[in-house]
Amino acid sequence: MLPHRSDFPSDFLFGAATSAYQIEGHAQGGAGRTHWDDFAATPGNVAGAENGSIACDHLNRMDEDLDLLKDAGFDVYRFSTSWARVLPEGRGTPNAQGLDFYDRLVDGLLERGIKPAATLYHWELPSPLSDLGGWRNRDIASWFADYTEVIMSRIGDRVWSAAPINEPWCVAWLSHFEGAHAPGLRDIRATARAMHHVLLAHGRATQVMRGLGMTNLGAVCNMELAAPAQETETARHAAQVQDAIYNRFFISGLTKGCYPDEVLDGLGAHLPDGWQDDFDTITQPIDWIGLNYYTRKLYDAAPAGAPWPATVEVEGPLPKTAMNWEIYPEGLSHFLTMIQRDYTGDLPIYVTENGMAGLSELTGDPLSDPDRIAYLAAHLEQVQNAVSQGVPVKGYFTWSLLDNYEWALGYAPRFGLIHVDWTSLNRYPKASFSAIKEALNS
Ligand code: FCB
Repeated sequence: MLPHRSDFPSDFLFGAATSAYQIEGHAQGGAGRTHWDDFAATPGNVAGAENGSIACDHLNRMDEDLDLLKDAGFDVYRFSTSWARVLPEGRGTPNAQGLDFYDRLVDGLLERGIKPAATLYHWELPSPLSDLGGWRNRDIASWFADYTEVIMSRIGDRVWSAAPINEPWCVAWLSHFEGAHAPGLRDIRATARAMHHVLLAHGRATQVMRGLGMTNLGAVCNMELAAPAQETETARHAAQVQDAIYNRFFISGLTKGCYPDEVLDGLGAHLPDGWQDDFDTITQPIDWIGLNYYTRKLYDAAPAGAPWPATVEVEGPLPKTAMNWEIYPEGLSHFLTMIQRDYTGDLPIYVTENGMAGLSELTGDPLSDPDRIAYLAAHLEQVQNAVSQGVPVKGYFTWSLLDNYEWALGYAPRFGLIHVDWTSLNRYPKASFSAIKEALNS
């Protein structure tokens, strides 16, 4: 059973989240090529070499999807606009069809009484910009500012909220250090530059949106509890280094204008010259902070002689999702409390993503997902805990409305409240959809 709407403060908002490349069908509607298309076409990067060409075909089924959002009773919908759909070359001439699509999306939400929460970048970098170095190139902050101007000049007057970048850690570290996401680099210098430039781009985009008169602007960070794999000094240190990289680097840059020492130990030598001078731009005032939370990870020290960060991930003992991610709801209240205490004080906090790739639906009835209902209930309880401790949590978004393209894992993991049949592309609400509907409406 999910807690009821009335168990939360009266102004608390419930939403569902998706992203452009994961649902729209990128081969359609005049969008340009992205580094995810390139990454997926390179053998070994993505399960089955699957890409977002068709995905959920949301581009052509938007009205049906918005009706489902309304039917569930959601207050707000977090979607992203695709840079390459708006500007197929990344710069230059906009794609009129793309702008029209986002215009209709925003109006379609407003007509249904749902607040549009826009994200400007959920990972599909136009390939021509990747050719120029992508996030390694400082110029990306200007390209991104220009893209922001184009899309927000069209929809910025009607969106309820906007955030420049989804999950800077994934954009920078996961994609340039671990090589697990596009562009698939494993390069410390590229990583350091991407980590800094992604925040610079955030700041520049925020300035542009303020210039357009927009309000309710935020930033969305993902966090994963980093715990020591054993009670040793070295394991504790390994967890602390990963905590700094994952959980503190970006929010510290955004809100305090500095980076944690544990990260500078490894990346300081690789940051671009004069990085300290960019904090005036990076620390533009924001109106809210978003937290995406899924799991925790355990860390130990790497064998002697390993280069920074000299940590290894150790498999944890807790029950796991289909992503093999441990289910650890307590981490959510940990971060909500930590964000308020250490970084943002009274600023509203939104849980902008939380959810699971279901296991039960993979083997039995595809619409029966008791594990997802239990996951959501346990995490909502942690939100309630944080609220009762005075943390200004103002809303919660489930990832995701629909099963969709789960990046390097392709279409196998299913995160949706709604099952998508990958042959017919028909939508079928799961039990979790009904549970949310009951919690929000009755
Ligand atoms: C988040 C991403 C989202 C989705 C979920 C499972 O990190 O923002 O696109 O892949 O994880």
